[in-house]
Amino acid sequence: MEIILAKTAGFCFGVQKAVDTVYSELKKGGKIYTYGPIIHNETVVDDLASRGVQVINTPEELENLHGGSLIIRSHGVTRALYEKIMQSDVKCVDATCPFVKRIHDIVAQESASGKQIVIIGNAGHPEVVGIMGWSNTPAAVIENAAEAEAFETAPERPVCVVSQTTFNAGKFQELVAILQKKPYNIVVMNTICSATRERQEEAREIASSADAMIVIGGKTSSNSAKLYDICRKECENTFFIQTREDLPLPLKGTEKTIGITAGASTPKNIIEEVLNHVGTGREF
Ligand code: F3S
Repeated sequence: MEIILAKTAGFCFGVQKAVDTVYSELKKGGKIYTYGPIIHNETVVDDLASRGVQVINTPEELENLHGGSLIIRSHGVTRALYEKIMQSDVKCVDATCPFVKRIHDIVAQESASGKQIVIIGNAGHPEVVGIMGWSNTPAAVIENAAEAEAFETAPERPVCVVSQTTFNAGKFQELVAILQKKPYNIVVMNTICSATRERQEEAREIASSADAMIVIGGKTSSNSAKLYDICRKECENTFFIQTREDLPLPLKGTEKTIGITAGASTPKNIIEEVLNHVGTGREF
């Protein structure tokens, strides 16, 4: 049996940076808070909680903090929340991924120049909520073809389209094509992160030749769920697991090639554990 582990499996640059930031702040001592769970991975969040890191979820909770450091995760936050944190009684440690920060800057600048901002992404995702909050005027969020068809704004108003960093590249092109048929002056900024695209392309390639495919990711991680969808299209025998505890899988036993990939919020040690167990055949 051959096992192919995707080179791009696991933490991307931005998530690694955010997680490293929390551990390095912990070493400095003092009370540490994160605004929302630092990543969509229960194992990491539980480990941090056991070291005393506390998750803050609302601006009201923020008002009650006195002292300590508050880390902004890689998804980023709205401008209003960023300013509130800066004015609060805690030290702000901004671990917003630089690629997300770039979208905040584009949105702030383009909306200030009068453009209608359109974000192609999942409404309600924290990154999208954060991006919306940097637009001077209400931004539209488009997630599917029906929403793209229904989009309208004032005819003379130029439109600036950006994307959630983890959005599916093919779907982005499809939605942009619908918008471009409309009579607006549209500027498109493809802000999909290359880490996501590379991970998705490699997963598709491995899944297309594998007899079984394993996607490791957190239950609430949307980029892991997207990876699963991509692999499932290529390989019917695709499984979504969180940790090695979810093994064994209901495999036939005749599989010759097994592919493994993991979402951007899956730590290296979890990938290694799964790899070791699959590799030794112990779990089949
Ligand atoms: Fe940043 Fe790309 Fe990861 S935007 S958080 S490096 S997926």
